[in-house]
Amino acid sequence: MVEILSDYELDRMREAGKLTAMVLKELRAAVKPGVSTKKLDDIAMRVIREAGGTAPCVGYGEPPFPGAICTSINEVVVHGIPSEKAILKEGDIVTCDVVAELNGFMGDAARTFAVGEISEEKRLLIDRTREAFFEGLKKAQIGNRIGDVSSAVQACAEGYGYGVVRELTGHGIGREMHQDPDVPNYGKAGRGHRILKGMAFCIEPMINMGKRYVVLEDDGWTVLAADGLPAAHYENTVIITDNGPEMTTYEEEI
Ligand code: MF3
Ligand code: CO
Repeated sequence: MVEILSDYELDRMREAGKLTAMVLKELRAAVKPGVSTKKLDDIAMRVIREAGGTAPCVGYGEPPFPGAICTSINEVVVHGIPSEKAILKEGDIVTCDVVAELNGFMGDAARTFAVGEISEEKRLLIDRTREAFFEGLKKAQIGNRIGDVSSAVQACAEGYGYGVVRELTGHGIGREMHQDPDVPNYGKAGRGHRILKGMAFCIEPMINMGKRYVVLEDDGWTVLAADGLPAAHYENTVIITDNGPEMTTYEEEI
């Protein structure tokens, strides 16, 4: 069931979103060659705790996710597990995907960051994944349908020749991390749930430089591009108001 949030609840979503953005800002500053993804996880946990929030990713799912955030390097599309052994090196790209809960509501956002100098093709992949998100966001208007968002994301990313991951989707969000409706990054305009005032959902293109296919590692979480080429991810939590779509997790510096 798709939940419609009250004005009070939307304000709580804004606060949780702000905390999520703050975490990403700290992570962005911390991403450097030589830093482990465990260190990034520690930073996220500290920022969330200091604000009085919690990290709902800890213990989520089956097997229970062991981190506060997901850290996904190069060909890892999403759900990379933070590790002491995963050390960032010059030329890598790393996606940090953060969920923060504050006063019962959640923000969920992801960015793919460059580690030092990266190749032109990785830079383009990051920029165009962001662009695909904003193409989708434009369609997140009252009266439209989720399929309008999905098809806009897909058209943008596939227009660049990239692979759009289909096995994972955006999702409704609120008191829970994953609520109805699903927000796929592919599909047909005019289909899917109607977009209504008070809805909250995440738009999150997961885009492969190569083909769209992914494989799941034995750890039960790490999702890799099957062809081993790099992947990028860009996500914001979006609430629907009379003034149009509003990103609760967006700040210019991230
Ligand atoms: N942030 C991810 C999403 O966008 C989910 C994280 S999975 C978890 O849906 F295991 F880390 F919680
Ligand atoms: Co999400």
